[in-house]
Amino acid sequence: MTHAPDHAPAAPRPAVRKPLSLPRLREMHAQGEKITMLTAYDATFAAVADAARVECILVGDSLGMVCQGLSSTVGVTLESMRHHTDCVARGLRRAQATAWLIGDLPFGSYHESKEQALRSAVVLMQAGAHMVKLEGGGWTTDTVRFLVERGIPVCAHLGLTPQTVHALGGYRVQGRGDEAAAALTSQAHALQDAGASMLVLEMVPAALSAALTKELTHCPTIGIGAGAGTAGQVLVLHDMLGMNLGRMPKFVHNFMAEAHSVQGAMQAYVRAVKEGRFPVDALHAW
Ligand code: KIV
Repeated sequence: MTHAPDHAPAAPRPAVRKPLSLPRLREMHAQGEKITMLTAYDATFAAVADAARVECILVGDSLGMVCQGLSSTVGVTLESMRHHTDCVARGLRRAQATAWLIGDLPFGSYHESKEQALRSAVVLMQAGAHMVKLEGGGWTTDTVRFLVERGIPVCAHLGLTPQTVHALGGYRVQGRGDEAAAALTSQAHALQDAGASMLVLEMVPAALSAALTKELTHCPTIGIGAGAGTAGQVLVLHDMLGMNLGRMPKFVHNFMAEAHSVQGAMQAYVRAVKEGRFPVDALHAW
């Protein structure tokens, strides 16, 4: 029988990962490290995304389309968002995950008043979210300030805001032309000044989102169909796994096509974003 000598080197310990936090995300932004985000709606996919080193997990109201078969996010309720945020948070806790968890405030849950927004945000925070996301600029600025003053981190969302798809006339690029670009720019600055600590830019011309990213020094931009110049990227999980039931948006890449597992596809996404290989402006921007 052979025995390992007493002086045998200890097996290497897995690197301890610190939980993602607002200061850590700010540090990454300051250092120019791209932030990665994916949506997830259940415990298992969330844990796999965390294992793939995705930094931020968004329980998006896109769950209305990908999980509930709705034709838009308009029909998603606060109770559905609470339920899925709870499932994801539980999965992350069980996996001793480090990801930063964002819960999406659904249509109608923050539109009546700042107080209504606070009540809705509390529901998602108590389900395990670290931050809430809400769509729109202008009228939302006071709501963002109200939530931030009460200790709730907020991610804002400009450009194509799917909850207002009917008012926008479809899923179209936003911020095209001088006037629209100026309006979007002033809304983005107001949201930063109100304390938003992240800003999703969806389907915004690449040049505009790159300019905003440089200007918004305290509020990292997270792009989706907004070119390569943002501080980070987000994709809908089912899209990046090539599981879209409808038409695949032009800006999406199917990372599953070259991977052997879901975790492998997510790791490829993280690497591609970090190394600036995704998105490729010529292919994925307007
Ligand atoms: O609901 C969602 O998935 C989103 C992302 C597209 C940013 O808002």
